[in-house]
Amino acid sequence: MSNISIIGAGYVGLVTAVCFAELSHRVNLIEMNPEKVNCLKQGIIPLSEKDLPELWQRNWEAGRLSVTSDYAQGLADSEFIFITVWTPATGNGKPDLKWVRSATKSIAEAANRPMVIVLKSTVPVGTADIVAGILARSGHNGHRFPVVSNPEFLREGMAIFDFMHPDRVVVGASDQNAADAVAALYEPLDAPIIKCDNRTAEMSKYASNAFLATRISFINEIALLCDEYDVDVVQVSRIMGMDPRFGSSYLNAGLGWGGSCLPKDVKGLIHMGKSRGVPMPLIRAAQQTNESQPYVVMQKLHQLLGSLEGMTIGILGLSFKPNSDDMREARSLLVIDLLKKHGCQVKAYDPLAMRTTAEVFPNVTYCADAYEVAAGSDALILVTEWDEFKELDMKKIASLMNKPIIIDGRNLYDPEEMAQAGFIYDGMGHRATKAKQLEGIALDGTQAM
Ligand SMILES: NC(=O)c1ccc[n+]([C@@H]2O[C@H](COP(=O)([O-])OP(=O)(O)OC[C@H]3O[C@@H](n4cnc5c(N)ncnc54)[C@H](O)[C@@H]3O)[C@@H](O)[C@H]2O)c1
Repeated sequence: MSNISIIGAGYVGLVTAVCFAELSHRVNLIEMNPEKVNCLKQGIIPLSEKDLPELWQRNWEAGRLSVTSDYAQGLADSEFIFITVWTPATGNGKPDLKWVRSATKSIAEAANRPMVIVLKSTVPVGTADIVAGILARSGHNGHRFPVVSNPEFLREGMAIFDFMHPDRVVVGASDQNAADAVAALYEPLDAPIIKCDNRTAEMSKYASNAFLATRISFINEIALLCDEYDVDVVQVSRIMGMDPRFGSSYLNAGLGWGGSCLPKDVKGLIHMGKSRGVPMPLIRAAQQTNESQPYVVMQKLHQLLGSLEGMTIGILGLSFKPNSDDMREARSLLVIDLLKKHGCQVKAYDPLAMRTTAEVFPNVTYCADAYEVAAGSDALILVTEWDEFKELDMKKIASLMNKPIIIDGRNLYDPEEMAQAGFIYDGMGHRATKAKQLEGIALDGTQAM
């Protein structure tokens, strides 16, 4: 078994740590935020991710995990150092490598033996060379620090499962021994291991995320057309998804992509293109479509309510995706901002993300559940498709509202069932056909004859 250090106890760092510990390695986490270190020492996980607390506790008790802010202590016996620090976009979209550079410098200062450096953070093409350069210039005791690029493809909310059952493991390196050693860590997972050079590994991560983002924007554009032609995009994407040439995932129309990865990685790829004179029109268009999705929802609200001034609008779901408390680039933030600009009162409920949202929008009324959101609201917007929103008593929700209007930003509900529950319903390219709508509900909530 190996000794592994992981720099950065965020989503990726913590998941990587517990999973390698679960595979019987000894893992030292190095985290610069002392509050996080204290929490972790007490067994408190500072983020929400399925199965993470249980795996942390089990491996902590087994003595396979430790956490510190001290690089010398955290690197003492390490053979592998995984860098999993944040790489946010700067104002012009360029990924900010400040944290990668600073982690690398700290490694160079503290390392006292040869170690393999593994870059797991999402970093632009050429970053492994930058990291290798910083380490080479430090010339620490003449030790060698080969750099391996090992991008992470996990999905928040499914992160432990994804780490343990990867579709592929990418190991990019110019040093064959280092590549073999990192590949060996993943061998028990029984996944295809792709060995390549560092640049290919770095590019593969950006290309993958930009492709996922483009698929979502593609179906969102089709959804706009479906609205105009009275076609249900949910059926269209189902039909498309049955084609084995492209499959069904990331083909759900809705409010668009947000979160910690797709927005910044799309910006990062566009910036990479710009800096080499490659215009990337397709990916720019995907980004543009995504930016307009909250406005599509606002337009739907206007159509149903007229002026929004003084209206009370309820938001169901705040986090960027279900089963996560992550609010980075969450669509709800854009929607709330637009509602506030139109003079609306906003009420909201989310199972996990209300505390973080309140830091950005203290002037939203945060509710105990969806029923409290519905009470007195002039319309609801479903922003995040949490499972619990599928189980709601929608008749009761409609009866509590001032006007029983719902904009389904994730196409979670069946338009006809919603009409039966008493709702005026509109989804994203997903609504009852015009004939069904006429049989449906009038604006005051009474059944139209
Ligand atoms: N979150 C995801 O779903 C996901 C998936 C795949 C890849 N990634 C990539 O992985 C990287 C990390 O993402 P994340 O979401 O885990 O970030 P995060 O912000 O949740 O965690 C980063 C952690 O690193 C710590 N840190 C920063 N600099 C440090 C330093 N010099 N020394 C010690 N600790 C330091 C921070 O305090 C923070 O706790 C990013 O490049 C991201 O694009 C993220």
